[in-house]
Amino acid sequence: MTFDYETEKQNSRQKIAEAADIKQIEAVRLEYLGRKGKLAAMYANLTTLPIEQRPEEGKKINEFRDIITQLIEEKKKDIVSKERRGSLKQLDVTIPGVAHPIGHKHILTQTIEEICSIFEQLGFAVEEGPEIETEFNNFTALNIPADHPSRDGFDTFYLKQQDPSDKNVNLLLRSHTSPAQIRIMEKHKPPLAVVVPGKVYRPDAVDASHCFMFHQIEGLLVDADVKFSDLKGLLTVFLKRLFGEKIKMRFRPHFFPFTEPSAEVDISCYICEGEGCSVCSRKGWLEIMGCGMVHPEVFKAVGYPKGKYTGLAFGLGVERMTMLKHGIRDIRLFFENDIRFLEQF
Ligand code: DAH
Repeated sequence: MTFDYETEKQNSRQKIAEAADIKQIEAVRLEYLGRKGKLAAMYANLTTLPIEQRPEEGKKINEFRDIITQLIEEKKKDIVSKERRGSLKQLDVTIPGVAHPIGHKHILTQTIEEICSIFEQLGFAVEEGPEIETEFNNFTALNIPADHPSRDGFDTFYLKQQDPSDKNVNLLLRSHTSPAQIRIMEKHKPPLAVVVPGKVYRPDAVDASHCFMFHQIEGLLVDADVKFSDLKGLLTVFLKRLFGEKIKMRFRPHFFPFTEPSAEVDISCYICEGEGCSVCSRKGWLEIMGCGMVHPEVFKAVGYPKGKYTGLAFGLGVERMTMLKHGIRDIRLFFENDIRFLEQF
């Protein structure tokens, strides 16, 4: 026997068109293309035909198979995309999404940026120096000779591996940001005005007000005729911008090897306004930074001609400033990464 392929095509088209879901189209596929399906029967029938009819008949079966395979595939894709579209319709866009927590800058970074931007508004540039320094920049060039007692508090954290380019250069983690003064003056001629924020390292045991690593900001201004009154004026403007117009300040004589004269700056306690409270240890004053006029020995170390320039310098501790500004009682909080603390600023 032979088949009526046109009728078969029509029937199969209709069945495929009527299939409403994946299950139904799969049933149609099995009916035609399955192992016991119509196509299998057609191919089996081929062997019963006279040999000369077989090529012609085989061609028709193949053609029928190709058409039906394609139609079923297309229908399947159609069903799948319709189902997808259907499920999209069920998406409720009014349901609130899952909010990802947004991070922000660490409070110490915020303080550094605030302080640097005040100085930038006053015409200072912001520079950085390396945390690994030479003994010369950290001490000797700053007028702190090897036997000077003021080395004692800082003399540590030397690096085993010395500078490979020079066997005689000792390297250490810098104990203050002041060596940046040396690097800047070695590179630039006055007039210059720079602030340098960065990490410093000291052999301090950790407690509520000490840490072996903390941050400082160094300041340096050098020109032909810089006076102590410029230093007072500059720091007055700076501290009023940072802590508010109301604060009072005083300069106490002090000693630093790299400045002469030297002073420490106190501000009136912003909590009790000078009355005395627990933040200022009942003194009414808070010690806030060191400063002075650049020592001639420092100019000599960087090769500036004798007597040509004068300069002012200052250095402050970022953690201490931040603790005073925000009433934070323990320096360790900055470094413990406790989100409950960090989130507050
Ligand atoms: N380097 C000093 C320290 O770490 C701070 C300091 C004091 C820096 C006076 C200065 C300065 O530039 O003039 O204690």
